[in-house]
Amino acid sequence: MRHDRRVRTDFDPAELGSRSFYRLLTATILPRPIAWVSTTSEDGVDNLAPHSFFTVACVDPPIVQFTSVGRKDTLRNVEANREFVVHLTPEDLFEQVNATGTNYPAHHSEFDAAGLEREPSLRVRPPRVKASPVALECVLHGTMSFGDSTMVLGRVVHAAVHTDVLAEDGLPAVDRLSPVSRLGRNEWGVHGEVKRIDRVPYEAD
Ligand SMILES: Cc1cc2nc3c(=O)[nH]c(=O)nc-3n(C[C@H](O)[C@H](O)[C@H](O)COP(=O)(O)O)c2cc1C
Repeated sequence: MRHDRRVRTDFDPAELGSRSFYRLLTATILPRPIAWVSTTSEDGVDNLAPHSFFTVACVDPPIVQFTSVGRKDTLRNVEANREFVVHLTPEDLFEQVNATGTNYPAHHSEFDAAGLEREPSLRVRPPRVKASPVALECVLHGTMSFGDSTMVLGRVVHAAVHTDVLAEDGLPAVDRLSPVSRLGRNEWGVHGEVKRIDRVPYEAD
């Protein structure tokens, strides 16, 4: 679609209100990878919920982060037990990922609601999603709260990857992972064309 690059529309968060501005942000900052986070409650209920406010936070030590908007079961369980598993969301689990975004009460496990098989984790108590090709087992590094949201930082203590998604170089191949991502509105992204380009080093003459 053609658009006129010289004309801009202005949005003032103070005028728009936080809910509408959030809708603008999530329709703008995209695609967002999805952390499918499993936790276990103090009562032993296994919880699973998608979080698209998610990225790598630190390289050494390896730390990932996701954000809970409001206080949800995932955040409560992480605070109580300090352990969680971040899974990747492949396209063939699209409907199950969405199903685990339903606001079930705390005693109701999303694993069971979405018909997802568990497998034991190696280093942490919350179970893994057996069908997810990548599971990052995390120990809570810390949280940071601001406004209505809490950022959760987790040190990755183990990564378990389905061997058949690994390419010859030992890294996951994106076309085998086939991740779904979150866009704006009710839109989701699927894996598309991949372009390759090498970083160009600066060469002083
Ligand atoms: C694809 C997707 C991404 C989501 N991303 C977030 C997010 O980044 N932060 C958040 O607080 N909620 C997010 N949600 C909503 C939560 O998953 C939802 O509130 C869920 O019920 C929380 O579950 P819990 O109470 O068991 O933790 C997302 C939902 C979906 C379907």
